[in-house]
Amino acid sequence: MATKPHQPLSPHLQNWRWHATMASSILHRATGVANYIGAVLVSVWLVLLAAGPDAYGVWEDLNAGPLGILITLAFIGFTFSVSFHLLNGIRHLVWDAGIGFDAKGSNLRSILIIGGAVIITAGIWIVGGLV
Ligand code: HEM
Repeated sequence: MATKPHQPLSPHLQNWRWHATMASSILHRATGVANYIGAVLVSVWLVLLAAGPDAYGVWEDLNAGPLGILITLAFIGFTFSVSFHLLNGIRHLVWDAGIGFDAKGSNLRSILIIGGAVIITAGIWIVGGLV
């Protein structure tokens, strides 16, 4: 669609000063996409698990090989992605009720949400003894 002269344009990324709420907004979209990729990865794992020992052996061989570290990192990334997206999604639901739009408080909550997702991820993987 052609723009008319002097028509206000939506500001692009380079016109914004970086701040926590901006980072959490970008991260929400990125984790939304990552959640799809992670859901496919978990599905592949579950299908191989359900298909019996031979099929699951393929998964175990992959994990024992050089790809194993990448698969573990992908699962850790997926844990962070779901944790962040869930916490920030709840924040979106609160925003939908018209609450929490003050700039300072929003920045603080963004940092708390990112930190919360890191703590949940570390809790599951380190405290849960998975790594
Ligand atoms: C594997 C599960 C999930 C997938 C694949 C997923 C994927 C996505 C994607 C792709 C978006 C669009 C992002 C954008 O275009 O900016 C989105 C937005 C959103 N998601 Fe999820 N999501 C998942 C789980 C959740 C959960 C558990 C919540 C919990 C509250 C949630 C809450 C939201 C909300 C509120 C939005 C809209 C944000 C906005 O208005 O900009 N999602 N999700």
